[in-house]
Amino acid sequence: MGIIIKTKEQIEGIRKSSQLAAQCLDFIEPYVKVGVSTGELDRKIEDFIREHGATPAPLNYHGFPRATCISPNEVVCHGIPSEERTLKDGDIINIDVTTILDGYYGDTSRMFEVGEIKQEAAQLIDTTKHCLDLGIQQVKPGNRFGNIGFVIGRYAKSKGYSVVYEFCGHGVGIEFHEEPQVEHSARRNSGQVMLPGMIFTIEPMINLGKSRVKIDESDGWTATTIDDKLSAQFEHTILVTDDGFEVLTDLHNEY
Ligand code: MF3
Ligand code: CO
Ligand code: CO
Repeated sequence: MGIIIKTKEQIEGIRKSSQLAAQCLDFIEPYVKVGVSTGELDRKIEDFIREHGATPAPLNYHGFPRATCISPNEVVCHGIPSEERTLKDGDIINIDVTTILDGYYGDTSRMFEVGEIKQEAAQLIDTTKHCLDLGIQQVKPGNRFGNIGFVIGRYAKSKGYSVVYEFCGHGVGIEFHEEPQVEHSARRNSGQVMLPGMIFTIEPMINLGKSRVKIDESDGWTATTIDDKLSAQFEHTILVTDDGFEVLTDLHNEY
């Protein structure tokens, strides 16, 4: 199959879906408070997505039971929203939204803070966001995918953190997960060459302790750090343009 070069029409559709996914994260922000359950946050986002004429991609994806992934603290990714898990003061939470609008996918996630968080948590979040931004700056025609992982890995390790290698970014747009796998720790100048019209995610997961993850045996999804230390993640959907990149899930002209 290979990496899909998207047409103008496909890019326009993926941009719209990506903007809706980003809107979901802005919409949910005021509700991320002590006492609310991750199940309720998920339901609010699912309603918001449907009100905008779209559907949530995770729901029933390989059997995933909910509309979004919500991953607190030591959960690296693929946390299943639950009415039993209420937010506590000091939690750090990743909310990951993927929308399907007119058949096109947009995928983005970011971290939310509940109440007053510890300094070590705040520093992990700041570093993880900077890892994503360093990765994005590598996106331009002619550069190789490995340089995204190279700069992310180098920076995370310089701060004493580890990079999760068991989950990767991915091509996205026509399907949820397309080629290539975008590694968040890689050798300089390794991997395929980026070309205009490619669309993929960068979504580094950075850990305070060891890089390994374990999957919850009872639900088959929840990925937590092997040492139960904190993990953080940010994700954007990115288009390779003729001279660089466009962050399709950027709502506020940050890039
Ligand atoms: N949104 C996740 C990603 O960034 C994938 C979630 S798959 C699910 O790739 F099944 F857990 F929803
Ligand atoms: Co993704
Ligand atoms: Co995602």
